[in-house]
Amino acid sequence: MERAVYYLHSYWAYLVVLVVLLATINAVIGAVTKRSYAPKDFRISLFALICTHIQLLIGIVLFFVSDKIVWFTEGVPVKDIMSDSTLRLYNVEHPLMMIIAIALITIGYSKHKKKLSSAPKFKVLAIFYPLALIAILAMIPWAAWF
Ligand code: HEM
Repeated sequence: MERAVYYLHSYWAYLVVLVVLLATINAVIGAVTKRSYAPKDFRISLFALICTHIQLLIGIVLFFVSDKIVWFTEGVPVKDIMSDSTLRLYNVEHPLMMIIAIALITIGYSKHKKKLSSAPKFKVLAIFYPLALIAILAMIPWAAWF
């Protein structure tokens, strides 16, 4: 069970990085070139939202089954988790920052939907999606992933 969730989370992450990267590039290009907002722009921002939300659900399950998560293991004090960079990454930094990244995508997506014209739609997406992308790229455990 733990391995299945781990592999799912690990492989789904490729899709998340790819789609969030594409949605970010699309939003920035749209904002810079001031072109009009098209259905494909809506679809790509929505797809980024869906992919990250699925990864959130998989991540939450993984959090409770992974042996790297030691919050629930008896005899591991919080100060030991916080003073070890690997334990701190998996137990605190990665889940927290990824949740913040997904919240940024969710806020950006819902704010852009409420805007009525193209320029403000792209502007909102071009602020929130790049911030989320930076948080995601910063918190991926690259060495373990590749
Ligand atoms: C955009 C969202 C996320 C992305 C792109 C992402 C990506 C990754 C990647 C690439 C790994 C390393 C996998 C490997 O070693 O092959 C990983 C590990 C992990 N992630 Fe995430 N993650 C995300 C969100 C979350 C969330 C929200 C949680 C928990 C609430 C979470 C919990 C974990 C845990 C516990 C591990 C360690 C698994 C293990 O080695 O046993 N992730 N994640």
